[in-house]
Amino acid sequence: MDDKSPHGALKDDPRLRPYFRSEDERRRVTQAMFDEAAGGYDSAEALTALGSGAWYRREVLRRNGLVEGMTLLDVAAGTGLVTVAGVALVGPGGRVVALDPSPGMLAELRKKVSVETLEGYAESIPLPDAQVDFLSMGYALRHVGDIDRAFSEYLRVLKPGGKVCLMEISRPRGRLLRGLLWFHISVLVPLLARVSGRHADVGRLWAYYGDTIEAALDPDAILDALRRAGFKQVDCSVSLGIFREYTGIRPA
Ligand SMILES: C[S@@+](CC[C@H](N)C(=O)[O-])C[C@H]1O[C@@H](n2cnc3c(N)ncnc32)[C@H](O)[C@@H]1O
Repeated sequence: MDDKSPHGALKDDPRLRPYFRSEDERRRVTQAMFDEAAGGYDSAEALTALGSGAWYRREVLRRNGLVEGMTLLDVAAGTGLVTVAGVALVGPGGRVVALDPSPGMLAELRKKVSVETLEGYAESIPLPDAQVDFLSMGYALRHVGDIDRAFSEYLRVLKPGGKVCLMEISRPRGRLLRGLLWFHISVLVPLLARVSGRHADVGRLWAYYGDTIEAALDPDAILDALRRAGFKQVDCSVSLGIFREYTGIRPA
């Protein structure tokens, strides 16, 4: 990219050049992809299981301490797969706000859950300081153009003692797992999509998805960025060599 942000969540990888050449173009192109794919996103997500499903998202939130009565901000909420899990955990006494730049994805979210929705980017969150107890972001870090700005915003909107919890897929370290993931993304899923005759609208998004896994920042760079923003107790756990949870606490 010509004017690539030095702190974007993607490396300057040749695989991404066909998609966009500047930060502005990246925002336009990815928003158009998500708007287009919104209607088919949930079924494509169920087919690929690389999210990995509603149960896993809920389990991550629960394990990381989201409980009844809390205020949750779900950044990059998309069609609401994390948001719905959050609503169930905070219960009627809690508050959930869903933020996403794609009107198409938010329209799908509103069909399944009634929460406050905000159209906007992680890098400039339209909320006052110290509003939320828990901030989640599911599978969207690689779409953020400036993770330093996004993480500063996360720190700002969290109350002291509040927690950030990011779910993301990372490139597996082992060659065998890398090969299996490549086979799953490049062969199995397109084949299943063709056989089922669905998901034509998410085809472009899916190809982009595979390319961004390869071009995503290394876990250590993400942990460093969380520390740079001011988070404490920064940590990362990994399941099945692919699914990562990055967490941090806003100091009191
Ligand atoms: C792969 S979807 C993830 C949706 C949902 N969180 C999930 O777990 O399935 C990525 C979402 O990130 C949103 N997004 C892209 N760039 C963003 C940014 N800079 N800030 C916040 N959200 C962004 C997209 O509009 C899209 O809805």
